[in-house]
Amino acid sequence: MGRCPECEEWGTLTEAAPARAGAEAPRPVRLEEIVGGELERRATGVPELDRVLGGGLVRGSLVLVGGEPGIGKSTLVLQALAGLSAEGRVVLVTGEESADQVRARAERLAARCGAVEVIAETRLEAVLALLEQDEHAVCAIDSVQTLASDAVDGAPGSVGQVRQATAELVRVAKERGVSVLLVGQVTKDGALAGPRLLEHLVDAVIAFEGDEGRSHRVLRAAKNRFGSTNEIGVLEMRPDGLVSVDDPTAIFLAEAGERVGSCVFPALEGTRALLVEVQALVGATEVVPPRRVALGVDRTRLAQIVAVLSRHAGMRLGDQDVFVSVAGGARALEPAADLAVALAIVSAHRGRPLGPGTAAFGEIGLTGALRPVAGADRRLSAASARGMGHVITPAGGAGDTGGPAPLSRVTGVAEALEAAFSGSPGSL
Ligand code: TYD
Ligand code: MG
Repeated sequence: MGRCPECEEWGTLTEAAPARAGAEAPRPVRLEEIVGGELERRATGVPELDRVLGGGLVRGSLVLVGGEPGIGKSTLVLQALAGLSAEGRVVLVTGEESADQVRARAERLAARCGAVEVIAETRLEAVLALLEQDEHAVCAIDSVQTLASDAVDGAPGSVGQVRQATAELVRVAKERGVSVLLVGQVTKDGALAGPRLLEHLVDAVIAFEGDEGRSHRVLRAAKNRFGSTNEIGVLEMRPDGLVSVDDPTAIFLAEAGERVGSCVFPALEGTRALLVEVQALVGATEVVPPRRVALGVDRTRLAQIVAVLSRHAGMRLGDQDVFVSVAGGARALEPAADLAVALAIVSAHRGRPLGPGTAAFGEIGLTGALRPVAGADRRLSAASARGMGHVITPAGGAGDTGGPAPLSRVTGVAEALEAAFSGSPGSL
């Protein structure tokens, strides 16, 4: 062809040698012959970040930290570098802020950042050259959207630029064993413009979330080649930096009490069991069909729970809006959350709180029957440790040893409602 069908230019096509020509057949290796597969991990000094990474930052890995502006990405990365500087040279490549601005932030922080090197740079080639000198163990780039390569058309932050920068950084990270922390901006409407495209290129994608009005933040792995994606990390933004929260339950249950529309759910998040509060609001609707709004719980499961409640517990919700959310930005996406969601909705609908200190877990089937769920023992001990007075669980599950919290073992939704409301005033 004389003319390129893509760009419609003449004479731009060049011949590429067929891949087979001259290439020697590679020799695959048996897995048992591969030595030294142990992952080398470095502690970041931010325990909750280490937890989400699966026990520290892996040597030669590329981790993308995504989040909205102002959530604390730059702070997190600087603190992590401060911790990592104990193990080798670390460098922060800043494209969004000047070195002075970074220093001003460092001065606020309780973490000691003195050994963190900083360079204001947005040229990809310069960053690659720096890393190819083999002097740095860790490099953070804030943010990937500011990097641009001469070899690629398009403004910094464009798809082509962001993809090129990431692909090149992955290559250098693997070749040189440098761990790279890549900050990715996420726009307010939740679109991960750049970062979404990069997910398959990088080893881990960590989402940094939180409400502007609250001081705590949640780290979640959306992808992790070197660890679980169930684990969450909870941090608090203080005037002198991010502090890891050892006991997230205290935050997630901050609002919980004997209130209408509230039910405590012992959730499993990776290696931790923590209590979260499911909240529901039910009210006459002004739209058809009525609203079913789920925040932190699964939408489809919510619709199913509402259907089961009307069919098997005689609740009329056809002309009612139902809002369900999990307090404090936590999530309850597991099927085990069904029962707590159902009880919160019924409580909201009846305008009555559950009995004092009620927690519940269990999956609800379409027949209204309750199914036991994994990790019952851990959920029960978490509930007892928090002094929950009454735990409602499916019959037939594990956890017969129970712990001190009084248990109601129920087989169906109707029975669960009876158990849940028998302790509160004016119960049916
Ligand atoms: P920043 O890390 O700049 O967020 P991002 O890089 O995600 O845009 O921090 C955002 C906010 O955090 C900023 O508005 C001020 C606040 N902050 C603190 O409360 N304490 C601190 O120690 C620091 C450094 C920032
Ligand atoms: Mg920033």
